[in-house]
Amino acid sequence: MEIINRRQRMSSVARKVRREQDQTIGLVPTMGALHEGHLSLVREARRMCDIVVVSVFVNPTQFGPSEDFSNYPRDLTKDTALLTDYNVDFIFAPTVEEIYPKNFSTYVTVEGLSEQLEGVARPGHFRGVATVVAILFNLIRPDFAFFGQKDAQQAVIVRRMVRDLAFDAEIVVMPTVREESGLALSSRNAYLNDEERHAASVIYRALKRAKEAHKGGERSGSRIAGIVRATIETEPRARIDYISVADADTLERLEKMDDRAILVSIAVTIGDTRLIDNTILNRAKQKEAVTTQV
Ligand code: PAF
Repeated sequence: MEIINRRQRMSSVARKVRREQDQTIGLVPTMGALHEGHLSLVREARRMCDIVVVSVFVNPTQFGPSEDFSNYPRDLTKDTALLTDYNVDFIFAPTVEEIYPKNFSTYVTVEGLSEQLEGVARPGHFRGVATVVAILFNLIRPDFAFFGQKDAQQAVIVRRMVRDLAFDAEIVVMPTVREESGLALSSRNAYLNDEERHAASVIYRALKRAKEAHKGGERSGSRIAGIVRATIETEPRARIDYISVADADTLERLEKMDDRAILVSIAVTIGDTRLIDNTILNRAKQKEAVTTQV
């Protein structure tokens, strides 16, 4: 396994792998602080691709001014040790200057999808995500890139960007990995104390209730949202930011649910930690490889 810090080295290694060795490249983009959720992506990349690249880059452009960019957990030594066990070929761990050279001024905005849900509380977040993913795709030219269903809106936006800008990468979205309590794994769970972590399991219970209601024949978006809300409100530590019942590809909010894939997504703050989670209803209707475990 080689750790690469320079963008030029990364692109020349990737070019060589593609051209001279005719091997497929799988990219797992991360911000480090790796947990089982990331490792499930790495495992799938290892299974599907000849060469696996994991990028570890805490991307400043996707953090708002009052967000946790400087405190975001960083431990490349630990991440490297974990990835060694997974037989990863390259870790790309560039500096901020390497990704955003002096006078950087070109951004990618996926309009319409980026301003809603997470985009309301985090303006500019998805512009930062789309921009860094586009840079990584251009440097590495992966055949496949792996993302988690937990960040459902991110996955939808990356898919749209790939389609609109004709990137030659296939996006693979892997199921959310959960703790035994149902809490979705996230690097931000590290901010929860024991009581908050326990309280946070209400999110999964709420999503399960939505799924059960849908299975039982409920087809009203607002009633499904109401079921989620009522469950979350049983937990006094939880403050709801949003509950959305929407088309899983366009994120258009739905009142009357038909048989298309539907994304039920929620953002909840527990203590000082904002958590997001989601489930898909009518999962079979969603495009290939997009799955969730809830
Ligand atoms: O999901 C993440 O960790 C980040 O948003 C990503 C995709 C690595 C871009 O910085």
